[in-house]
Amino acid sequence: MKPKKVSSVCIAVLACAVASTSAEEKGNTGSDTAFPTERVTQEMGLTAWAKIHAVASHPRCTNCHVGADNVPLWTRNPGDPPRAHGMAVNAGESRIGAEGLSCRTCHQTSKRPNQVSNAAPHTGMHWQLAPKEMQWTGKSSTEICKQLRDPDRNGGRDADGLVEHILDDMKETGFITWAFNPGGNREPAPGGLRAHLQDMALWTAAGMPCP
Ligand code: HEC
Ligand code: HEC
Repeated sequence: MKPKKVSSVCIAVLACAVASTSAEEKGNTGSDTAFPTERVTQEMGLTAWAKIHAVASHPRCTNCHVGADNVPLWTRNPGDPPRAHGMAVNAGESRIGAEGLSCRTCHQTSKRPNQVSNAAPHTGMHWQLAPKEMQWTGKSSTEICKQLRDPDRNGGRDADGLVEHILDDMKETGFITWAFNPGGNREPAPGGLRAHLQDMALWTAAGMPCP
C-alpha cells in the first residue's frame, strides 16, 4: 500500500488515539514516529468520520458555520433548536460585523472561562463567523465531509493542516476549544476535545473517506 503522507505531529496524535481506543494494539504502536499508518483502514476512517460529523453538526459549531446570509445562530437554552441571533446582528461580508455592529462589541477576546449564562461567549480568538464556503448548516454528513477535504473550501488545508488547525486552536483557546467547554450552561459539543483531535488524525490518515 502506498504510504500516506502524515506529519510527525499527526502521527503522535494518531499513535495516542490507537493506543487509547484499542488495547490489543497498544504493545505494537511503539514510539510515536514509528507508528505504521498503513494499518489505518478505510473502516476506521469512516468510524472516525461519524464522530467528527456528530461534532460538526452540533450547534456549538454550526452556530458560526452558517451560510451567505451572514446571520449567526444562537441557542438560548440547552436543547433549543438554533435560531437567528437576536438584536438583528448580521456579520456582513467581512464575517466580523465590520459593516455594522462589530462582533467584538459584545464578544470579548479573552481566555478566561465563560461562566455567565446567556452572556456573549468569549474566546482567545477574535469572535467571527466561519467563511461562507465553510457553511455546515443544512448540509448532510456526506456534503460536510467532501467540503472539509476540499482545499478550495477548507481554507487551503491538506490533511495535516486540518489536524494542525485543532492544535493551533488549543494553543489559542479558540473556537473549537470553547465549543467543547463552553461554560455558562451551554451544552458542549459531544465526545471531548482530545477525542475529536484523535478522530481527525485517524480520518486524515485513512485518506479522508466519506460516507
Ligand atoms: C449586542 C451584543 C452582541 C453582538 C454585537 C454580537 N453578539 Fe453574538 N451573542 C450575544 C449574546 C448575549 C449571546 C448569548 C445568547 C445566549 O446564549 O442566550 C450571543 C451568542 C452568539 C452565538 C451563539 C454561541 C452559542 O451558544 O453557540 C454566536 C454564534 C454569535 N453570538 C455570533 C456573533 C457574531 C458572529 C457576531 C458579529 C457579527 C455577534 N455574535 C455579535 C451578543 C452579541
Ligand atoms: C465563533 C465561531 C466559530 C465556532 C463556534 C466554530 N468555528 Fe470553526 N471556524 C471559524 C472560523 C472563523 C474559521 C476560519 C478560520 C481559518 O480558516 O483559519 C473556522 C474554520 C474551521 C475549520 C477549517 C476548515 C473547514 O472546512 O471548515 C474547521 C475544521 C472548523 N472550523 C471546525 C470547527 C468545529 C469542529 C467547531 C466546533 C467544535 C467549530 N469549528 C466552531 C469559526 C468558528
